[in-house]
Amino acid sequence: MLRSFALKTAQDFATLVEYSLGLPNFPYVGGNAVRTAVVGDRVFTTNESPPEKPIPFHHELAQTPRFPRRLLFFCERPGDSGGETPVLYSPGVYEELKSIVPEFVDKLEKEGVRYSRVMTKEDRAHSAIGRGWKGTFGVKTKEEVERVLRERGYEWEWVGEGEDCRLRETSPVLKAVYVGKDGRKSFFNQLFAVWGGWRDEFNEPQKCVMAGDGSLLDTKAMELVGEVMQRHRVAVPWQQGDVLYIDNMMAQHSRAPFTGRRRVLASLACESLEQ
Ligand code: FE2
Repeated sequence: MLRSFALKTAQDFATLVEYSLGLPNFPYVGGNAVRTAVVGDRVFTTNESPPEKPIPFHHELAQTPRFPRRLLFFCERPGDSGGETPVLYSPGVYEELKSIVPEFVDKLEKEGVRYSRVMTKEDRAHSAIGRGWKGTFGVKTKEEVERVLRERGYEWEWVGEGEDCRLRETSPVLKAVYVGKDGRKSFFNQLFAVWGGWRDEFNEPQKCVMAGDGSLLDTKAMELVGEVMQRHRVAVPWQQGDVLYIDNMMAQHSRAPFTGRRRVLASLACESLEQ
């Protein structure tokens, strides 16, 4: 965490990321949260879902074949209470899970995972996974979204007809465990966030994620994943001007519920296509 560096505005944050750190930008494409651009395509609001709802631990965009290696958050204004951005060390979670549910971890490691989501054309701000397919994939028409999905190895179907038509997309098989250059294994995925949180009028969370062979995830094992993550949780209350710099391959992040007008901005950097 960077603290006491006289950063006041979103522009200060953008300058830090772009010029002081010199990080290549990662455009926010493929994610499921509704966000608003604040400085160019470099700085965004974080997930705009309702403040009373926690956002569970996840690696940013690990549910897609393209994800950022680095992730930065900037606190423009802390909330009146709560609103931390808890983090955890994902190799620690991997090690602990490997010792308590080895078969579950081995299966995920061997077969990978697939994610599936139903989305509307336009954004639905009331839902934490309400980003529409236009915004998710940066396209305007059905033909364009189909082209992008085909290029990235997704399967899809259209549900319903006409203007109310919805898109159900299923990702290609993606890794559930990332192995770093030094051999460290990280529990790099969105499993718990999806399994516990991808719920809205069109999505049932426990059907939104599956093992690579299409089987649903074991309920008991997933409960243990949640418990292990809580044991590894570290949360530092935000102060105005703080920057949190995260290695997205090795650390998961989340958001605690809050009151007040908290505003935390995000910037994604260093694209990777290694899934
Ligand atoms: Fe996130």
